[in-house]
Amino acid sequence: MYQALYRKWRPQTFDDVVGQEHITKTLKNEIESGKISHAYLFIGSRGTGKTSCAKIFAKAVNCLAPKGGNPCGECDICKEIQSESALDIVEIDAASNNGVENIRSMREEVVFSPTKCKYRVYIVDEVHMLSAGAFNAFLKILEEPPEHVIFILATTELHKIPATIISRCQRFNFKRISSADIIERLKLVCKKEKIKIEPKAAKLIAKCADGGMRDALSILDQCANSCENNVTFENAKKILGISSGDQTEKFAENILENNSSGCIEIIDEIHQESVNILKFCESVMEYFRNVMIETVNKSRKDISLKRILEILDVLQVSYQNISSGANAKLEMEIAAVKLCENVSTQGSKSVTDTEINNTKKEITPPQSPKTVNPPVKKMEIKTEDGTFEPWGKILEELKNTKTLKSLYISLRDSNAYKSGNYILIDSKNSLAFELLRNNSEYRIAIKNIIKNITGRQYSLGPYKPENKEKTKDDPLEALVDKARKNGIDVTLN
Ligand SMILES: Nc1ncnc2c1ncn2[C@@H]1O[C@H](COP(=O)(O)OP(=O)(O)OP(=O)(O)O)[C@@H](O)[C@H]1O
Ligand SMILES: [Mg+2]
Ligand SMILES: [Zn+2]
Repeated sequence: MYQALYRKWRPQTFDDVVGQEHITKTLKNEIESGKISHAYLFIGSRGTGKTSCAKIFAKAVNCLAPKGGNPCGECDICKEIQSESALDIVEIDAASNNGVENIRSMREEVVFSPTKCKYRVYIVDEVHMLSAGAFNAFLKILEEPPEHVIFILATTELHKIPATIISRCQRFNFKRISSADIIERLKLVCKKEKIKIEPKAAKLIAKCADGGMRDALSILDQCANSCENNVTFENAKKILGISSGDQTEKFAENILENNSSGCIEIIDEIHQESVNILKFCESVMEYFRNVMIETVNKSRKDISLKRILEILDVLQVSYQNISSGANAKLEMEIAAVKLCENVSTQGSKSVTDTEINNTKKEITPPQSPKTVNPPVKKMEIKTEDGTFEPWGKILEELKNTKTLKSLYISLRDSNAYKSGNYILIDSKNSLAFELLRNNSEYRIAIKNIIKNITGRQYSLGPYKPENKEKTKDDPLEALVDKARKNGIDVTLN
């Protein structure tokens, strides 16, 4: 049966544990000197060696012939523990056994002597998941632990553990493992497993594992499986969903040239290639961070610091939005357009707002009287006249106008309806509204195209299909609602 690399390569002695020397040294000393505590608390992020060290410790305290604090790995006890058949080593997953009754039954059990080993060792994983009642019951055991019992509590979240418990344990903080240590381990595993790996690929995997050895080995496993044991940088990138450096650079250049359609094409491209867009965003930020440093050091002079900071700000917002679950592709498109079209993120008052406001107030807008309609009476957008037939032609026209490519891309799957003097755009892509709201040139251009094709001047608005009743009651509210849903900040005075 195939065994995952990270399981197969679980360290079996303290000396085999990577990057946690500050811990393994102390534990070995305790074994050698026989000064053993009854409760240990292992804290640290995922896959850094907590469970592994707990198991090694369980072996070492019970080993019949320990060597320099390490378990021998040869005696009956070591072998039994290694094969996970030792009755005296009890692993408890507190995530699924977190009730007070679980701890009570443990309390009844601990008083009995171990069957074979010197110490019965309880390894409690995810200990922060215990309920308040369970922690209280557990505290009672910790207050007077039987001589033959050792508890090793492991957690990724120290702050969820009561201080009364923490104070009764010897604490060990597991560090994130350095890239260098991870690379070293990957090389060793590859050598023994007869996997070829490019140094650049090992470096990339280590970077993505972010200090966790389990993750690093899992990624290696995945790469080796899909590349027939020949892990190249290009393959690793593909499996990790990482864009090529080229794409990052091209994207950054397009931003600096204010070429939003170029950016959108790259976003399309990486999306097609299943690149992880969050990671792409990160790589673009890293790129501009380097530009910032070069600029600060005066080794680069073609771009102002103000502009770089603006770019980083916008990217940061997208990064956060994507991290918290927003549509990644759309977020990147919005960022690109904001940056290329010089859209103010403050949301200056736009003609679209004015149009909506004027519907309410029925006054003539002060600016650009040539391009804006005479005041529309509120009633006129009450009923919807139906699909706006020429929309297809208008999109075609947008597509063929180079300066309107971004607008076209954001509108290409849209529909439109006519309602009195309004063309109501039905688009799932909120980028379209963002563009129209923030860019008067786009609004004017599209209105002119509509005018050329229909011979009439229309105003633009968002369409709200799912709520016709509301449209009837208060069309203004419905429009504003839709606009807000699409991230357009509309203010009604
Ligand atoms: N410090 C390390 N040295 C060598 N290998 C390690 C180390 N840490 C983790 N590993 C590898 O990752 C696997 C999982 O490690 P382990 O179960 O000890 O992590 P953990 O810290 O308990 O993680 P979790 O918080 O997810 O329980 C091991 O089987 C081993 O392959
Ligand atoms: Mg663990
Ligand atoms: Zn042994």
